Amino acid sequence: MRIANYDSIASKYDRRYDLYEYAGCRETLTNFLGEAATSVLEVGCGTGHWLAEIARLKPSRSSDDRGLDDGNGTASAERLDGRSAPAFAEGFGASTVARFASEGGKALAERLVGVEPSSEMLARARATAPSALLIRATAEALPWRDGAFDRVYCINALHHFRDRLQFFAEARRILKPGGGLLSIGKDPHAERDTWWVYEYFPETLGIDRERFARVRTLRGELAAAGFSWAESFECDHLEAMRPAGEALTTGIVHRAYTSQLTVLSDEEFEAGRNRIIEANAAAGGELQLATDFYLFATVGWV
Ligand SMILES: C[S@@+](CC[C@H](N)C(=O)[O-])C[C@H]1O[C@@H](n2cnc3c(N)ncnc32)[C@H](O)[C@@H]1O
Repeated sequence: MRIANYDSIASKYDRRYDLYEYAGCRETLTNFLGEAATSVLEVGCGTGHWLAEIARLKPSRSSDDRGLDDGNGTASAERLDGRSAPAFAEGFGASTVARFASEGGKALAERLVGVEPSSEMLARARATAPSALLIRATAEALPWRDGAFDRVYCINALHHFRDRLQFFAEARRILKPGGGLLSIGKDPHAERDTWWVYEYFPETLGIDRERFARVRTLRGELAAAGFSWAESFECDHLEAMRPAGEALTTGIVHRAYTSQLTVLSDEEFEAGRNRIIEANAAAGGELQLATDFYLFATVGWV
């Protein structure tokens, strides 16, 4: 499996959120969390984009480390907020509570937590989602005792985990009865995606088919990990046409734009970039790069 080095692309990662709305992901995540979830964990939280979204809707009243299992030697856990839990809770502004109440919110996520192995991504998450507790750890060894969370989710991250089955076992272990795990990601096996990345960098489709499982495989793996019920559904559709000339100069045809390009060798990346330059020249500078693919949500309930 090719590993994307997120430390090296952290500074450019959030570009995607300027280009796409991810409205379906936002709605799916909001529905999944519901109003009753009070302890929520994002695994592979990256720059904290989704934690910040939740904090906007369900601000944390406290982000203490109840349930953190110090005895688990396999993961390195470190508090990156640099403040003690009580001080952190007190630092939660009354104006935020008032705003949330005025928006009709009933339940608040009392514990909003992110796990991420890349220190550069975590540093950005710290600025983007200051109300979340951020822990440097991996999906395969989550440093909490059993039954610590109501909801665990990961967005566009599962395909990076070294051992997906180990993560499912860990997620099942740290979920409370009635808890749920949500994963949102592509299914490149579905053969309905059109994406300039697959078109001009043909190695990327094979790489994705190795690292992304079919959603039906995920459901089977969740059942095997002890989840009592699993479902999956199409949750977002990313669609855009972008002029190739512009994409070549604005950081879209760039190794940091998406992990599919990050994991390529220099030769593979340059060959694909040259294909776009040549096709654009052949099209008189009018080439458009097409994005038209779906994201799927898979949910397992305890
Ligand atoms: C495509 S990013 C997604 C970040 C965030 N969820 C989002 O949607 O913006 C994938 C993230 O998974 C993280 N990751 C990679 N391997 C991991 C592992 N074994 N456990 C947890 N996270 C991991 C990467 O460092 C990266 O930040």
